Amino acid sequence: MTEWDLLITDVDIATMANNGTPYGLIKNGSLAISEGLIVWLGPMKDLPNKTAKETLSMPGKWLTPALIDCHTHLVFGGNRAWEFEARAKGKSYVDIANEGGGIVSTVNATRDCDINVLTDTSRARLLSLRQEGVGTIEIKSGYGLDLETEIKMLKVASNLENEGISVHKTFLGAHAIPPEYKNNSDSYIQYLCEEVLPEINNLGLIEAVDAYCEKIAFSNNQIEKLFEKAISLGLPVKLHADQLSNSNGAKLAADFNALSADHLEYTSMEGVHALAEADCVAVLLPGAFMTLRETQLPPIQELRNSGVSMAVATDCNPGTSPLCSIRLAMTLASNTFNLTPEECLAGVTREAAKALGATNTKGTLEQGKQADIAVWDINHPNELSYWLGLDQLSALYIKGKTH
Ligand code: NIG
Ligand code: FE
Repeated sequence: MTEWDLLITDVDIATMANNGTPYGLIKNGSLAISEGLIVWLGPMKDLPNKTAKETLSMPGKWLTPALIDCHTHLVFGGNRAWEFEARAKGKSYVDIANEGGGIVSTVNATRDCDINVLTDTSRARLLSLRQEGVGTIEIKSGYGLDLETEIKMLKVASNLENEGISVHKTFLGAHAIPPEYKNNSDSYIQYLCEEVLPEINNLGLIEAVDAYCEKIAFSNNQIEKLFEKAISLGLPVKLHADQLSNSNGAKLAADFNALSADHLEYTSMEGVHALAEADCVAVLLPGAFMTLRETQLPPIQELRNSGVSMAVATDCNPGTSPLCSIRLAMTLASNTFNLTPEECLAGVTREAAKALGATNTKGTLEQGKQADIAVWDINHPNELSYWLGLDQLSALYIKGKTH
């Protein structure tokens, strides 16, 4: 029998597998890795008598799945600190968007941004997430809104894989109406469906399609057209839903069997039931809630009661959530949205993997899954949502290799 590549012993493991114990806990356990996969894990007393090329004893440390940030707009040009300042003086996000600021101002900055600059500024944000234990990230396009710039953004996102984080790329062409289609949003949707989405899909640059359903963005009808196109190309969908008003976004997402519906501050009971029925993940974005000084909370208890999976993400973007910390997203989800620390950790591991359609390989520590593992200096995993700004990551393994 061949030896294992790596054996980690004498650790506590929060597997986050749904095995009936809190955090899927294995006390005093060990975990073996071969060829980038978890090949054995369990209590030390059950460890098979088998050799490994390398053995690391880690008493006092905890293993969790590497964290997953399942909703970001991490690639963008410039920033919108001036808008943040305007909001502090009383302007609303919608006012700013209607005055030509908001998403469209980042579109202009991203179109103008040299690809190397775009890569360097995006990498800095990505590394902030990685140093907190993030091993997988989703990155959306949507600040190009034309074929050339959407491709530029997605290529930058692909290149960021060189930093050892795995990147899921999503097409968000329907993020805002670009200046050249002002007052002609139907034609813009047609352009996306007929030209941009098929071309970007042919280039193999995306795994999913997202859209922004809101009065200041696109109507349910327009999004239906885009989603029909996405499904016809074999691409799963997801939706920015009910963030600033109830536009039945959750129901729309559920109708298309979306991987996730995201934000959900204004989602009705009908929307919650639709999500439950479609087994669509609710992605909660407390960074945007906080940054917009929002007061309407997502229907957390209703989602919980209906058994809807809840993920938590940074929504890292220059307008509504300049958040490059998944740990802070967890703390905010707990303190602001009343998620338990266990729900927060599940939200950035197991449920985030589900939101990316990646449950076969990621999100829990189980035999056969990818060896994406965070090693922590903590006494209990509830600390991961508790501390603000304390660096407790001891190591990060992606596909069995440290970074
Ligand atoms: O997730 N809601 C729309 N999209 C982003 C905001 C992007 C921006 O303001 O630049 C969000 O909050
Ligand atoms: Fe977003």
